[in-house]
Amino acid sequence: MKNRNPEAQFTLFSIDNEFEVPKEETTSDGTELVSFRELVPEINDTGYLTHAIFAYPAKFIPQIVRYAMNTYTKEGDWIVDPFAGSGTVGVEAYLCKRNAILFDLNLLLNHIMPMKVYHNQERLHEADVHKLLEGMQASKHRFMPVWSNVDYWYAPEILDTLSQYWGFIHNVDNTVYSTVVKAALLKASKRFSYTEDRTPKLARSQRKLSAIAELLKANWREQLDEMVHSLSLKTLRSLNDFMMYTQQHLNENTSDIQWQGGVDSSYVAVPRVCDALITSPPYLQAQEYIRSTKMELFWLGHTEKEIRELSRLEIPYRKADRIIQTETLDKVREMLTREDLRKRLDSYFCHTVNALENSMNQLKPNATACIFVGNPRIDGIMVEIWRILAEYFTERGFAFEKVYEDRIKTRKLFGARKNKNPDGMKSEFLLILRKNAICQTTVPQCESLLQDAEALAPDPKTSPDSGAS
Ligand SMILES: C[S@@+](CC[C@H](N)C(=O)[O-])C[C@H]1O[C@@H](n2cnc3c(N)ncnc32)[C@H](O)[C@@H]1O
Repeated sequence: MKNRNPEAQFTLFSIDNEFEVPKEETTSDGTELVSFRELVPEINDTGYLTHAIFAYPAKFIPQIVRYAMNTYTKEGDWIVDPFAGSGTVGVEAYLCKRNAILFDLNLLLNHIMPMKVYHNQERLHEADVHKLLEGMQASKHRFMPVWSNVDYWYAPEILDTLSQYWGFIHNVDNTVYSTVVKAALLKASKRFSYTEDRTPKLARSQRKLSAIAELLKANWREQLDEMVHSLSLKTLRSLNDFMMYTQQHLNENTSDIQWQGGVDSSYVAVPRVCDALITSPPYLQAQEYIRSTKMELFWLGHTEKEIRELSRLEIPYRKADRIIQTETLDKVREMLTREDLRKRLDSYFCHTVNALENSMNQLKPNATACIFVGNPRIDGIMVEIWRILAEYFTERGFAFEKVYEDRIKTRKLFGARKNKNPDGMKSEFLLILRKNAICQTTVPQCESLLQDAEALAPDPKTSPDSGAS
């Protein structure tokens, strides 16, 4: 591999050596400094093919996944991702002729994947989208989300039109064309609501209220139709590009991509042994994926009860059922003076480790686990997640292979905030662990999925990074 930064030192660790934690002041030097974008020049657009069909908080850039796949897996391998989010690992696995098993707590995965990995051989036609849109605009069907607060988020006339359009989509035959229109409607339903559509979390803003008021004085319905129309065609083109690419480059691709959204990865049954794990766990910061996507989930037909139950299982908002101990984590715990933050930290590591361990138990001997994480701060204290995970798993049948550090250039994760972490995260890390030939790991006991999930309701005032989007 080429070192793009002449001053960066390559890691000196090898899997044969006992894992040694690099000294704190040499952390950056102890890691291999890379730019995944530069290492994978064949991907020059993070939204290429179907990757950009859905916006999702804290998505992988495909270059990281591609690099991990090229370096640590081979054609035909099975890859597991217990935090699949919007399915980046699934798309890349398909494009690299690997198989994948994807899990996520968020039900969106089930709606996203059939579109992102589109197998059909026949080109899709714009005329069929037009026909469907005409039917939608003339439809008599109605669909109202099972959401007690829905009126709070929409002007009545917009809600009425959206309920007509969604009524049509929920009643029409489920074809690739209806899913293309559905993807467009999801975006339009957010754009035409009172929520800020530039931040992932639902937040009714004065700016948006004024914008919608202005829109209502103008030709809002034409604008809504135009948006759904152009987004549908854009998605259609992405699917056609995906199909053409696979026909030209992936002769007889037999990749098997399986997914299960709406499951807790700590306890889900992984259906087979795998050759690698490639994943990015949730951030320690207050990133609430289910809450961020609940408007979409409601329109897709999921109920308030279903969404509430899933939100309670989100990491790190559940009570820890065991305390993870490692040298670095214990130090952070000692330094933390706020009890609520200590609980958040314990919850984060308990459930993140449980979910990773559940999938890593199903890895073959010598398989690789590639875990992509940041180094967030909690009350101003840096939490080196990769190091904590390395310390934990090297005591449980894995060898530390290396850690890559990618300095964030274009993507500000949580930057420019007025809190104890004003600079946000500067680097992200790809930790590589290799499963020992003979390996035993401890499996957390599960009584019931929901019983233990007593939620620590996220309180925006006490959340470690309340400014996080
Ligand atoms: C950093 S995101 C993953 C994004 C993904 N790599 C992508 O490219 O879209 C972390 C994911 O963890 C999921 N998650 C949180 N708690 C979970 C749990 N208990 N079980 C399974 N998934 C969970 C969230 O829904 C979120 O999609």
